[in-house]
Amino acid sequence: MNDIIPLKERIIVALDVNDAEQAKELVKKCESHTSYFKVGLQLFMSNWFETVDWIVDRGHKVMLDLKFFDIPETVKLAVEQVSNRGVSLVTIHGNDPIIRAAVSVRGDMKLLAVTVLTSFGEEDLRAMGMTQSIEDLVYFRAKRALELGCDGVVSSGLEVERMRRDLGGKLLIVTPGIRPGANVRDGSDDQKRIVTAGTAIKNGASHVVVGRPITKADDPIRVIEQMQQEIAASAN
Ligand code: C5P
Repeated sequence: MNDIIPLKERIIVALDVNDAEQAKELVKKCESHTSYFKVGLQLFMSNWFETVDWIVDRGHKVMLDLKFFDIPETVKLAVEQVSNRGVSLVTIHGNDPIIRAAVSVRGDMKLLAVTVLTSFGEEDLRAMGMTQSIEDLVYFRAKRALELGCDGVVSSGLEVERMRRDLGGKLLIVTPGIRPGANVRDGSDDQKRIVTAGTAIKNGASHVVVGRPITKADDPIRVIEQMQQEIAASAN
C-alpha cells in the first residue's frame, strides 16, 4: 500500500500556530513540496473551519486532529459536523463505544483512532498502575479499531512494525513524534516515543506527522526535502 501514496502526501505538516494568517503563510511556504496539512486544537480554537475550508479549496488534504473523546452520542454528533466538508482524516480516541459511534457517521472521511499519545512513555503507563507494555496496548487498540471499522490509527513509529505485519496493508498508520537526524532525542520537546521519518516509513507507517521540526526551522523546505529523501529511500 505504501508505494501508492504520493511522496507529496507522506508528510502531514502540523499547522500548530495561533491564527489563520500564520497557518496560511505556512501552507504557502510548504505547498510546493507537501499537500497534506494537519489542523489541531490550537489553530481550530482560533478560527474553527476557516483554515480547514481554505486548505481544502486550495486542493490540499486536511487531517483534522481534535481527538474526540466524549460519550458516544456527543462524539457521533461532532463527527457528523465535520463529515462531508472535504476533510480527509479525522481523529478520535480509540475506545470501543467512541469508535462505534463515529464509524456510523464518518461519511467520506477516514477515521483514525488515537492509540497511545507519542508524548506518553512506559513510566507514564506504570504511574497509572498499568502493567502492559505500550507496544501491546497500541497493538490491542489498533486491532480493535480495525475490527470496529476504523480506517487507521495514530501511533508512534516504535509500534508500527508489528501492526503492519499482523494487521495487514490496508490500515492507515499515521505517525507523529518525528524528529530528524542521527540523534532523534535532540529537540524532542514533549515527545517521548520518537523516530526519524525514514524509520517510521520503513517500519510501515503510511504517513508521518511533523510539526516543530518543520514549523520552527529556519528553512522548512530543506527539512521537508531531507525527510522526503529518507522516505523515498525507505518506502517499500
Ligand atoms: O511538533 P511535533 O512534531 O511534536 O508535533 C506533533 C503533532 O502531532 C502535534 O500537532 C500533536 O498534537 C500531534 N500528535 C501527537 N501525538 C499523537 C497524535 C497527534 O504528537 N498521538
